[in-house]
Amino acid sequence: MPSQKRPIYIIGAGGIVNEAHLPAYQLAGFNIQGIFDIDFAKAKTTADKFSIPVVFNSLQQLIAQSAANAVFDIAVPGSQIIPILEQLPTAAAILLQKLMGENFEQAQQILQLIRQKKQLAAVNFQLRYAPYMLAVKYLIAENKLGELNDIEINVNVYTPWHLWDFLAASPRVEILYHSIHYIDLIRNLLGNPASVYAKTTRHPSMPQLASVRSNIIMDYGEWIRANILTNHCHNYGTGRQQSYIKIEGSRGAVWINFGTLINYPFGTTDSFEYVFLETDKGPEWKKMNIQGSWFPHAFIGSMVQLMLAAEGAIARPDNSVEDCIYTMACVEAAYLSSEQGGVLLPAIN
Ligand SMILES: NC(=O)c1ccc[n+]([C@@H]2O[C@H](COP(=O)([O-])OP(=O)(O)OC[C@H]3O[C@@H](n4cnc5c(N)ncnc54)[C@H](O)[C@@H]3O)[C@@H](O)[C@H]2O)c1
Repeated sequence: MPSQKRPIYIIGAGGIVNEAHLPAYQLAGFNIQGIFDIDFAKAKTTADKFSIPVVFNSLQQLIAQSAANAVFDIAVPGSQIIPILEQLPTAAAILLQKLMGENFEQAQQILQLIRQKKQLAAVNFQLRYAPYMLAVKYLIAENKLGELNDIEINVNVYTPWHLWDFLAASPRVEILYHSIHYIDLIRNLLGNPASVYAKTTRHPSMPQLASVRSNIIMDYGEWIRANILTNHCHNYGTGRQQSYIKIEGSRGAVWINFGTLINYPFGTTDSFEYVFLETDKGPEWKKMNIQGSWFPHAFIGSMVQLMLAAEGAIARPDNSVEDCIYTMACVEAAYLSSEQGGVLLPAIN
């Protein structure tokens, strides 16, 4: 936790702010000083619900009245990020909700703008900070898992994409809006891959949408397997719905069933199991009780990183724009790989 809980000013009062940012900040005891949304009524309703002292009429007013040590927390559609960044002060501390722009081109523009304005900016790729991932990082730091050599994220659920109207007009859906979290998580654990292979596929029951299922291979060379498999179209009841993150190393392994996506939006409980290879006995899987989940607890971690960097306790946020641009680059590479297609079968004589 940072030593100083800097005043937070929120820009955007939509679903994610109400469902995750503010509940997480309440849990963390953060100091929310003000909120602005182009829809004043939404900002007012949110402020009333979370006891936020000031609702601003404009972004200019929010900026003018913000404290010198403010943190700006932006959660608006990706297309709105650049015009807001242009107005925020030089050297401001900023948390951007993912996506980092709507595509890689915008991500690069965002990065350049932040560099020019010498702003300290982090991106809210928060799965990295889900409590179960913090437990994995603890095991890695204690060298309980050894060298990692296999990560698999496997999601077989029914996602009601129609809840997000704007997706019908989006040329990219699954990887850009969903698997991006898993790509970011794998990068966070293994660093940048050498390349990305992918095939992302549409579904006949969702003809209005671009691809909604993906197989992504992040290429870390000969000895590490890193795969993401997602099917959001499993409309056959909850019995066989599943979503897990499996991590294997030379000394141990972890299996996390994460419940957020099962029977969406209701979700189910997570479970965390781990095993260590011990010379004197066979592998024995054990359960660990983890307090908290992806939503909303992970949202604390994204903000903590920014605040730690703002007070100089760390050189830069773990989720800095300088780092997260590579998550956007991997997303771009995945779509390009899918468009290019696989290797054609050799001719048969
Ligand atoms: N990290 C995650 O897991 C996660 C989950 C959901 C959404 N998101 C992202 O969060 C962002 C917001 O999503 P949401 O679900 O809250 O959407 P939403 O549509 O519910 O809310 C967006 C809000 O932004 C406001 N807004 C739009 N332009 C604005 C501007 N220029 N200035 C101020 N307010 C403005 C809108 O009035 C609206 O209230 C999106 O970029 C989305 O991709 C991230």
